[in-house]
Amino acid sequence: MKRNLAIAVSALCLGLFAVGESSALDTYSAPDPAGGIASSRHNLGSFSMHIGASDPTGFGPVGLGTTEICVFCHTPHHTNQGWTITLTPMWNRGTSAPTSFTAYGTTIGGTTVVNSDIGSTTLACLSCHDGVTTFDNIVNAPGKGLVVAGGSDRGFVFYDFGSPVSDFMTSSRLNLGLDLTNDHPVSIVYNASTVAGLRPVNTTISAIDLTSDLNTSATTYDNGNMTKNLWAVKGFVSDTATIADLLRGPSNDRVECSSCHDPHFNNKSWQEIDSTYSNVTADQEAESNGLFIRRVGGNTGSGVCRTCHEK
Ligand code: HEC
Ligand code: HEC
Ligand code: HEC
Ligand code: HEC
Repeated sequence: MKRNLAIAVSALCLGLFAVGESSALDTYSAPDPAGGIASSRHNLGSFSMHIGASDPTGFGPVGLGTTEICVFCHTPHHTNQGWTITLTPMWNRGTSAPTSFTAYGTTIGGTTVVNSDIGSTTLACLSCHDGVTTFDNIVNAPGKGLVVAGGSDRGFVFYDFGSPVSDFMTSSRLNLGLDLTNDHPVSIVYNASTVAGLRPVNTTISAIDLTSDLNTSATTYDNGNMTKNLWAVKGFVSDTATIADLLRGPSNDRVECSSCHDPHFNNKSWQEIDSTYSNVTADQEAESNGLFIRRVGGNTGSGVCRTCHEK
């Protein structure tokens, strides 16, 4: 009974939101910048509104070593040259060794990924999302701080709304761990038109029809994002990008974490995952950055999946 009531109430809220508050949803068009990292949870500096802020309103007293944002991932000099691969772009973090991960293995289509395939941008994301490497494990510390090849923990203290928190990913939802067998395959070659219903790499993403198979309400839901299928590539929302623009790796032919996510894009276009988008007062877990998904409208109608897979 209580459960039914809860369902009824949330259905009501969703209904209200769809009618009354859809203006809270940001609309992006080409060529808007895919920005917003400063107000997102990928800002780990002391001016951050989230982890790192020692004051719940943000912009408060400094709780840790730096106000910089990019330094937690990039540096202009002394970049991490990585393991057997060069970590790009201009990478400033220590990462777990590729050998410490368990790669996906072999797919139904017969494509195999082994640890030595694990690519630069995937290692980059996992250098925080592996649950092992600390947020402040960096190579070139801000300003006149020391350069330590391969990175080292800088002893910064991290706060979440005034309380000190752990220096590595503890949230079970965001901590992907070292085992990549339970994640969508990454560092995997995109074998277009041969397996898994994969579309040709030269497919123009915005031209993919994701709506005509669906109920007509899909055409207007989420500000019509299903019909537009706009993805952010190279830092801008694009209506001309192709699937090739999503691929990474030495030959630009692989799916990596950054095929689906842009770590700088505080994507506020996904109605289904957040009804408030409050930056300041919301609880850290409730606050959303649209999961940093590259697609405008996030995974509405499984638009992320159906962009690559013709299913
Ligand atoms: C949380 C880690 C992280 C932070 C913080 C970060 N970046 Fe990045 N950045 C990345 C990753 C990962 C890539 C590779 C993305 C890809 O493969 O598309 C990247 C790529 C880039 C690129 C090239 C590709 C593109 O999207 O344009 C630029 C330019 C860039 N970053 C600038 C910045 C600047 C400037 C800042 C600070 C305001 C910053 N980044 C902060 C992780 C980060
Ligand atoms: C410098 C450390 C760092 C790196 C590198 C990093 N992240 Fe994060 N990421 C974080 C932190 C911190 C959070 C927020 C954690 C929390 O709220 O508990 C976060 C949150 C997220 C979220 C959840 C956002 C939401 O809307 O709920 C996603 C998705 C994510 N990161 C993906 C990525 C991807 C993909 C990459 C690589 C392109 C990446 N991250 C690189 C530190 C990092
Ligand atoms: C094929 C596309 C794709 C790839 C590749 C991908 N992700 Fe995601 N990721 C998604 C989608 C879609 C979601 C949102 C899932 C949902 O709605 O619950 C997501 C969610 C997440 C979340 C939030 C988890 C949750 O369930 O709330 C994190 C953290 C994350 N991704 C990090 C990464 C990292 C790190 C990598 C690389 C190891 C990666 N992603 C690779 C598509 C992808
Ligand atoms: C950037 C392109 C891309 C996107 C986006 C994408 N995939 Fe994939 N997916 C691939 C590739 C490449 C493979 C590997 C296919 C192969 O070689 O067998 C794959 C494989 C898979 C497999 C098969 C794994 C196996 O072991 O056989 C499933 C299931 C899958 N994807 C589901 C999804 C879902 C669900 C989403 C949305 C959350 C998604 N994909 C988004 C490119 C993508």
